Amino acid sequence: MLESLKPQPQDKILQLIAMFRDDPRDGKIDLGVGVYKDATGLTPVMRAVKSAEKTLWETEKTKTYTGLAGEPAFNAAMVGMILGGTHADRAASVATPGGTGAIRQALELIRLASPGATVWLSNPTWPNHPSIIRYLGMKMAEYRYFDAATGEVDFAGLTEDLGRVAPGDVVLLHGCCHNPTGANPTADQWRQIVQVLKGRGAVPLVDLAYQGFGDGLEEDAFATRLIADSFPEVLIAASCSKNFGIYRERTGVLIALGDAGRKAVVQGNLAFLNRQNYSFPPDHGARLVTMILEDQALTADWKAELEEVRQNMLSLRKQLADELRKATNSDRFDFVARHRGMFSRLGLSEDQVNRLREEAGIYMVGDSRINIAGLNARTVPILAAAIAKVAG
Ligand code: LMR
Repeated sequence: MLESLKPQPQDKILQLIAMFRDDPRDGKIDLGVGVYKDATGLTPVMRAVKSAEKTLWETEKTKTYTGLAGEPAFNAAMVGMILGGTHADRAASVATPGGTGAIRQALELIRLASPGATVWLSNPTWPNHPSIIRYLGMKMAEYRYFDAATGEVDFAGLTEDLGRVAPGDVVLLHGCCHNPTGANPTADQWRQIVQVLKGRGAVPLVDLAYQGFGDGLEEDAFATRLIADSFPEVLIAASCSKNFGIYRERTGVLIALGDAGRKAVVQGNLAFLNRQNYSFPPDHGARLVTMILEDQALTADWKAELEEVRQNMLSLRKQLADELRKATNSDRFDFVARHRGMFSRLGLSEDQVNRLREEAGIYMVGDSRINIAGLNARTVPILAAAIAKVAG
């Protein structure tokens, strides 16, 4: 049986981790996978997480199974954080292994409810979106999103393409901090997107993996809340990997908003999907998040640290845009300061990306996506000079 297996294509982002690790050069710079790093290159355990872990270690009396849909308190806390206290009466939810698990379960739910539905993805999007959809044998379409010439959202192309969505089709939207481009619609553009999609009878699926990394915890929920207020049915796949820094704990949630009278049936289907795929979801990270969100002092400390993380990325963005302006003697890369979240797509060719890796030991994804948090004040000028050299 096993001899019939063919090699699978490697994930472009994860492949970089191994390449970087195997590079013996001292000054190498990792701008690949989306993991936050401080100025020393460490991905720290957040203070509130450490504190909750200590309390948990002291007080936890059992490791027996939790609920099939996860702890209700975790799901409620996440619905509260994302939707700001609204829509709870019509929100079915399950804890999932990270944001990827939430995306996977969302797609499984769509396939169960509407097997013929097409899922629309932004071009470009996180490469694992089309990969999972293809694996599940679902239909997929693309909408234009990014204007490579300006580094901004191609709003005319986006609305034109979304105007072609069929009733009942699912449209995957990045709730904030678009991955991989870093370019995001304005509030007014979001309102227009909602109008177009409402007119088409689409079902939005929001991927919210970076809440708190863009303009702030509340601000980054703006589009998701607008969408929740505007559509009868919405799916939201959220991750705690980045904003709580608990990547390896695999903590996420899938929220399905629908008619309040159907909530129990939707909830039952979400629990069923958990049971079919992995039974009970991981609990440790979810429990830490719950402890933090249910405790005022821990919440305040977590928010303060998350804000430090966000501000650090913003100042790196500004510094990089300034350095690139000097190094290239042009405003070509000014969009870096306007982008939000961990990523910016620089608009370099694959050949230029390869040269940066081979000649300067600078690792970025092949589409020229950089992880801003992989930089620090010392390495920003090094990157700017290297980019100027290959792009000049
Ligand atoms: C990324 O895009 O780098 C992150 O979402 C990590 C991942 O799993 O790809």
